[in-house]
Amino acid sequence: QPRKRLVIGNWKMHGNQAANASLLDGLCAGFPAVRACDLAVCVPFPYLGQAGASLQGSGISWGAQDVSKHEQGAYTGEVSAAMLADFSCSWVLVGHSERRSIHGESDQLVADKAQAALAAGLTPVVCVGETLEQNEAGTTDEVIARQLAPVLALGAAALEKIVIAYEPVWAIGTGRTATPEQAQQVHAAIRARLDGSVAAKVRILYGGSVKAANAASLFTMPDIDGALVGGAALMAEEFLRIAAA
Ligand code: G3H
Repeated sequence: QPRKRLVIGNWKMHGNQAANASLLDGLCAGFPAVRACDLAVCVPFPYLGQAGASLQGSGISWGAQDVSKHEQGAYTGEVSAAMLADFSCSWVLVGHSERRSIHGESDQLVADKAQAALAAGLTPVVCVGETLEQNEAGTTDEVIARQLAPVLALGAAALEKIVIAYEPVWAIGTGRTATPEQAQQVHAAIRARLDGSVAAKVRILYGGSVKAANAASLFTMPDIDGALVGGAALMAEEFLRIAAA
């Protein structure tokens, strides 16, 4: 059966209770028109309760932007997967390029976080992508293979429950999107690394300056199953237009 389209908004470190309330209300009001796709928002930890209260029953799901690899214990500042499940999260981003580059997260740590998320019943959205330098050096495939290796080692039963997001670092927040053909090529290469039955099931999202104006052409590509949206997810109308596409 075909993979259901998925559009996830990553709010990053933006928002406050008042701004969130109007954004969430706008999403709830507009969602019935775009129901054919799965829609979700990944919000900062302090706003998980607010997102849950607003989105409960709307059909829009929610999640977080990071998770600890540890189950519980003396890990000051960390948030466990069980805590996210306690807030009825469906999703958690792991290995976003900003976590990898600013916080030095390794490929193994990202896989450990994905495993912790799965153990708590959440769907990890594993983010991968090459830098501009790596892209220009022609090493995109090898960079992504390295990033995915410890995730692939989790095995088929785990892999069929994950989502992968391809986000070329040079396209994030830059206004510079990969062309649909460029993105498709990488998505197909990622899918080719998954075993047959898993490959057909796993949703691979594109991220990097997705907006209403470029979403439709990206979504015509056979291996692009949706989007992970940053900046454009902070505006209800724009985000819903991406979902409509
Ligand atoms: O997680 C989202 C990506 O980093 C994309 O961000 O849409 O602002 O380029 P952007």
